[in-house]
Amino acid sequence: MANPPLLEVRDLCAGYGDSQVLWDVSLTVPQGSLVAIVGANGAGKTTLLKTISGLLRPSRGDIVFDGRSIAGMAAQQIVAAGLSHVPEGRGLFSRMTALENLQLGAYPAQVRGHMNESLARIFELFPRLAERRHQRAGLMSGGEQQMLAIGRAVMARPKLLILDEPSMGLAPLIVEEVFRFVRGLHATGVTILLVEQNIQSALRLADRAYVLKTGRVVMQGSGAELLANEEIRKAYIGSLG
Ligand SMILES: Nc1ncnc2c1ncn2[C@@H]1O[C@H](COP(=O)(O)OP(=O)(O)O)[C@@H](O)[C@H]1O
Ligand SMILES: [Mg+2]
Repeated sequence: MANPPLLEVRDLCAGYGDSQVLWDVSLTVPQGSLVAIVGANGAGKTTLLKTISGLLRPSRGDIVFDGRSIAGMAAQQIVAAGLSHVPEGRGLFSRMTALENLQLGAYPAQVRGHMNESLARIFELFPRLAERRHQRAGLMSGGEQQMLAIGRAVMARPKLLILDEPSMGLAPLIVEEVFRFVRGLHATGVTILLVEQNIQSALRLADRAYVLKTGRVVMQGSGAELLANEEIRKAYIGSLG
């Protein structure tokens, strides 16, 4: 039996001013799963994540998180409800050390007591971060910064971790390393919604995936099903894979 949904997006429409970007998007993220949203540049992936995390207001539809509607709620309230969003571009404090960045992730009062346990978990999954914990974030490599940004979000012990294109701008070998880290986090029980233009890597990781094209869900299935799908292979893999 499938796990109960942690996040349900129903017939969501959103955009910027008069320009509608998302058209009746529906998706489900079951408790404990890793769900991917894949699609080309400009498909509306970031817009969808911004709408889920309260940075954009939906014009129609509903978003149910952990049993209650969060559509139209303020971003801070949504974070407090247990949803952590790692945006494109990472947003680290570059002059602070890796450790300080991670500690800042544990600012919510209810998770402060778990700080050492959370740090140990992140360092175990990514030992190089432990070795470099006193390094300034701004001096770390792109891959290390990406894993630090994800680690910082995990420090808040979110119910749902949302990742917007963690592979962006990274060399292929480093991308594999970042995806291994994401897989490791998922194995420790974190529910993850991953958005990626790197379709092949994302589908390999995902329990379930949705293909977004010009703001609409055009296909969905298990990661393995979509990887094997001829249409997907032709349209996306090879060109972007
Ligand atoms: N701040 C914005 N104002 C107006 N249009 C935007 C804005 N951000 C994105 N868009 C448009 O929304 C569409 C989807 O963009 P986006 O959600 O960033 O796609 P993706 O993340 O899949 O690359 C694009 O056509 C883009 O030009
Ligand atoms: Mg984007």
